[in-house]
Amino acid sequence: MIKGVNSAPTTASPSLKETSPKKASAKGALNLEKQQTEVSELTANPNSHITVLLEEAVQALDIKADGVYVDGTFGRGGHSRKILEQLGEKGRLIAFDRDLKAIESSKEITDPRFSMVHSHFAAMQAELNEMGISKVDGILLDLGISSPQIDDASRGFSFRYDAPLDMRMDQSSGQTAADFLANTTEQYLGEVIKNYGEERFAKQIARAIITERNDGRAITTTGQLAKVVAGAVTRFEPGQNPATRTFQALRIFVNQELEELSLTMPQCLALLAPQGRLAVISFHSLEDRIVKQFIRDQANRDDLPANFPVRAADLPQPKMQGVGKTIKPSVKEVKANPRSRSAVLRVAERTHVA
Ligand SMILES: C[S@@+](CC[C@H](N)C(=O)[O-])C[C@H]1O[C@@H](n2cnc3c(N)ncnc32)[C@H](O)[C@@H]1O
Repeated sequence: MIKGVNSAPTTASPSLKETSPKKASAKGALNLEKQQTEVSELTANPNSHITVLLEEAVQALDIKADGVYVDGTFGRGGHSRKILEQLGEKGRLIAFDRDLKAIESSKEITDPRFSMVHSHFAAMQAELNEMGISKVDGILLDLGISSPQIDDASRGFSFRYDAPLDMRMDQSSGQTAADFLANTTEQYLGEVIKNYGEERFAKQIARAIITERNDGRAITTTGQLAKVVAGAVTRFEPGQNPATRTFQALRIFVNQELEELSLTMPQCLALLAPQGRLAVISFHSLEDRIVKQFIRDQANRDDLPANFPVRAADLPQPKMQGVGKTIKPSVKEVKANPRSRSAVLRVAERTHVA
């Protein structure tokens, strides 16, 4: 089933203060950059995506042959195909993606156990409920953008090509990065670049962009943006394009990536049947922190002081438990696919507690 759902982020700017992290770690910042620099490390093929942590993520789901599974980020279907391989005749897989090219590519899978939904994953619970599904046995989220999205110049994700400044994962709705730059204020833009790109020259970059716009040179292409940012950034790491962090920030903002994740985690909790598994692959600390914190909050049985006089059995029981340690790609995988190197997989299991 392919379902068109016009449910991408609205054009209204969200309250950045409410939803964006105040600070991010230096390590996270480095990882953000790596995602973009990796583009040059591969021969760009706008149709191919090498699935990250393929075996590990599917194994983490602990597939039951007749279970119902969700792949929230179909991409080019690497994980989905592997899940289908492990499902029995009565098993079911429902995949989501907001990208129309991903939807197109899913048509190659003609398996009757498979359904594809064109939607952002924050509408997962509503979409599944509409399909008559209230509980599932596993959910996978492989976050961020796919290689085809980065490598297709016309999508406007990369400063390596000159193209219209789009950056929407779902090109059928929502505002483009160019729309945002045309309408935002200098202060708000500075906050976006600082909070989502961890860019120390955020203020200067925002000022340069708004000055260009006010001088009648609205920024509508990736090339223009890269040039203006390069003029505003006086120091950057050797070998890095000075626009790396700004591009990252705009991409995260335009696609509301952190808000999507924050809205989806509680839905995963509600949807998972007892012993159901959640597996999330993050590519930078801004995402990973949301996942880690959510799992930790569900696993923590209370926030009472350690010596509070209450029996362990009387404490609220956890709804979710972390499974094992975080999993990262092997040296071999990173060598074969440099884009995998900042990936972190976290796994959690739903308990019996309602
Ligand atoms: C890293 S790729 C997934 C690759 C996939 N696991 C594979 O093996 O081919 C991420 C995909 O998730 C999609 N995506 C990202 N955020 C999304 C969201 N909030 N809702 C729906 N799809 C999303 C992107 O459009 C992209 O196709």
